[in-house]
Amino acid sequence: MTTNKLQDLLDRKQKIELGGGEARIQKQHDKGKLTARERLQLLFDQDTFVEIDAFIKHRCTYFGMEKKEAPAEGVVTGYGQVEGRLVYAYAQDFTVIGGSLGEMHAQKIWKVLDNALKVGAPVVGINDSGGARIQEGVNSLYGYGGIFYRNTMASGVIPQISVIMGPCAGGAVYSPALNDFIMMVDKTSKMFITGPKVIETVTGEKVSGEALGGAMAHNQISGVATFIADNDQAAIAETRRLLSFLPSNNTETAPGCETGDDPNRVIPELNTFIPDNPNKPYNMHELISMIVDNGDFMEYQPYYAANMITCFARMGGRSVGILANQPKVLAGCLDINASDKAARFVRTCDAFNVPLLTLVDVPGFLPGTAQEYGGIIRHGAKLLYAYSEATVPLVTVITRKAYGGAYIAMCSKHLGGDMVLAWPTAEIAVMGPAGAANVVFKKEIDAADDPAVAKKKMIDEYNAEFATPYKAAELGYVDDVIEPAITRQRVIDAFNMLASKREMLPPKKHGNIPV
Ligand code: HXC
Repeated sequence: MTTNKLQDLLDRKQKIELGGGEARIQKQHDKGKLTARERLQLLFDQDTFVEIDAFIKHRCTYFGMEKKEAPAEGVVTGYGQVEGRLVYAYAQDFTVIGGSLGEMHAQKIWKVLDNALKVGAPVVGINDSGGARIQEGVNSLYGYGGIFYRNTMASGVIPQISVIMGPCAGGAVYSPALNDFIMMVDKTSKMFITGPKVIETVTGEKVSGEALGGAMAHNQISGVATFIADNDQAAIAETRRLLSFLPSNNTETAPGCETGDDPNRVIPELNTFIPDNPNKPYNMHELISMIVDNGDFMEYQPYYAANMITCFARMGGRSVGILANQPKVLAGCLDINASDKAARFVRTCDAFNVPLLTLVDVPGFLPGTAQEYGGIIRHGAKLLYAYSEATVPLVTVITRKAYGGAYIAMCSKHLGGDMVLAWPTAEIAVMGPAGAANVVFKKEIDAADDPAVAKKKMIDEYNAEFATPYKAAELGYVDDVIEPAITRQRVIDAFNMLASKREMLPPKKHGNIPV
């Protein structure tokens, strides 16, 4: 090979690697954002990123595009290692025509998704784009459609993570929405179908971009996003952490690791953890941090439907997904948003063979017209469905309240719970004592000389008879009533026992979850 040809190659690569040029890179940095290549360097283990398709060019000739160069077509694609495991990624380059997506930009993303699916590796998509490249017209839409189709085909086969690090508007939002996880960077990322200007023109409503589609709007209000990070660096670090809890694909389990935390660790504080007053809340986060390895867990949707906690953690070195009612918020009851959040989390874990631990303290479903008109029936059904079809090991610990339909929904024996444990403080019954006394003993209470005294007597009787774990344990709906102090030990032991669990669903085209 002549030196000239080699030099030519190096020059071409150098030009491509400069993206939209120094000025635009500076503009990107001034906004507190990294460039596409800087983001990928951080995502992958040092010196493992391999770029592909750097030479791809657009072939648009409209609106002067024939004269416009777009290094790497505005999206950097390739693969590398994350903690030694293969991961595919693409990062849209806002410095190149605003990271806008045309036909060839899309085809680079298609190739990433096709290759990742072929080899069974996760995909991380870093979004920072003005959306459909306007000059390319319908070809941009064709590009997006192909991405959505591939996202759907890969769904449940390989983990797909979208990291939003700039604008993500219009139909472009639907690729992240079809992924398993959406990480948004606070203040610099925005997601919306129609932006503030269009909204004002069509409906007259005035709203800022941040309020409409900022990271907090989607982490707290809409439930579209699953994680939030302070800046690009933190978002990438959290993405790497998230990958560590997941397998590469649906035929594998997540890698185990030596966490140094004794699986037999006894936690005496748990024996006095539940307040004597059944109406007094406690913080379920504390309980989770006491039982998981080293108190370390990664919360999924921490700001959305906070009455339901969902998180990844390790127990005995094994990656587990945890769902837990949070008595501190809405008394831990199930409502529309909590049901949606929990159902989605169960399905995500089940798809990727992450065993599930469910911690139950649930007084019931939230009553009210807002919930009924909002469709709590079909939303709650998602949770029943998700647990019932889950084939991963399912371990449940009932700490306190487990009432009615919500008891069934929270991974009871009846939906497939493999090991259901209860604390002596558990109250497993069809409804709470006050409500039950009012229905069953209404006539006796009304006829009594002192209805208040009669009611208290009935409630005490009901509590003694039903608000315990023992009726359920007599029937085998609870496998064991345990001393709270040994919860960690018993849960880890159950997951070890269930490691070889094999369960097949009846053959079907696909189920019909009430979406
Ligand atoms: C072509 C685009 C572009 C786009 C940005 N650019 N978006 N070029 N198509 N969609 C170009 C700009 O012309 C500019 O080029 C450069 O990228 C940087 O953009 P700026 O506007 O200077 O940046 P900023 O001020 O930060 O504003 C970013 C922005 C804004 C908010 C994203 O660019 C914007 O509103 N863009 C249009 C968004 C949009 O309406 N997209 C189409 C949505 S419809 P120069 O050469 O001047 O640097 C859609 C349908 C998809 O996406 C449907 C899929 C199913």
